[in-house]
Amino acid sequence: MLANTQSNYSPFYRQPAPGYGFECIHAVEPGLRVLDTMSTADLYEDLAHSGVVIYRDFADSLEHFNDFVSAHSSRVTFDPARKAATANTAEIEAGVHEMGLHRENGNLPFNPDLQWFYCLAAASVGSETTLCDGERVLFELSASTRKRFQAQPIRYARRIPWHNVRRFLSIELQLPLERVTDEHLEQVNQQVTGQTYRRIDQNLIASELIISAVDISRFSGRLAFCNSMLGPSVNYEPPRITWADGEAIALEIWDEIKEVTARLTYPHFWNKGDIMVVDNTRVMHGRRRLDDLGRRIFGAQSYRLGGDGQ
Ligand SMILES: [Fe+2]
Repeated sequence: MLANTQSNYSPFYRQPAPGYGFECIHAVEPGLRVLDTMSTADLYEDLAHSGVVIYRDFADSLEHFNDFVSAHSSRVTFDPARKAATANTAEIEAGVHEMGLHRENGNLPFNPDLQWFYCLAAASVGSETTLCDGERVLFELSASTRKRFQAQPIRYARRIPWHNVRRFLSIELQLPLERVTDEHLEQVNQQVTGQTYRRIDQNLIASELIISAVDISRFSGRLAFCNSMLGPSVNYEPPRITWADGEAIALEIWDEIKEVTARLTYPHFWNKGDIMVVDNTRVMHGRRRLDDLGRRIFGAQSYRLGGDGQ
């Protein structure tokens, strides 16, 4: 019997979030690291299945997390202007207010395939990160709303300080900040379908992005309602969101989106050392109000291995 028990021994076990299905993998063996345990195939397979993977009770430090992000990404996007923690990660500073569900950089012309989180210090209460699976949202929307979003793209329109646009393009185009000029605005207008940058004056750029609110997950290959319609706009003017032709999106549709996403939102209460990986092409994330300022979460964004370039 003992031999049999030993042969079945696994250094970790799986326990998906009840009712939501997000994969949660718990370490059993002390000192076990995600970095040494999970291959790219393991991670991508779990993402294809449930859209989010949460690793708990593993022994990774912030540096191990940094290396884990690198090991499973073709390119990590990092903003050097942010307070750096490691080469690839930065501490998340997004105020104390609740933050609506969103696709990371969902209203920008380049958005990452993967959003990564690491909990260095847990909150004593509340402050959960919220997760909502866009595959399920699409399924739960009424047939008429679903069809409309599948047939008609939406438009995000807003004004952004040139400094912010420049910093964003320097990261995404991998150019030194001072080399980014109006030519690059034009280059992105040409290269990214739906994106239009237009200079208003020396300090301000008008940005318009026409894009479908429904996308195909880069991991599961299935359709998902995944976008930034519900937020956030912490550091800038909130975008005006309409149908692609400028027509207002009916209040009933906004209400339906809010109701369905709220019903399908899982709040993750962090333990110290938790690592979370989110398929940013399928699952939207956000945050409840920050009730404990001692909470410290680090984040990273990246593009998947074997994806279409980037
Ligand atoms: Fe975010």
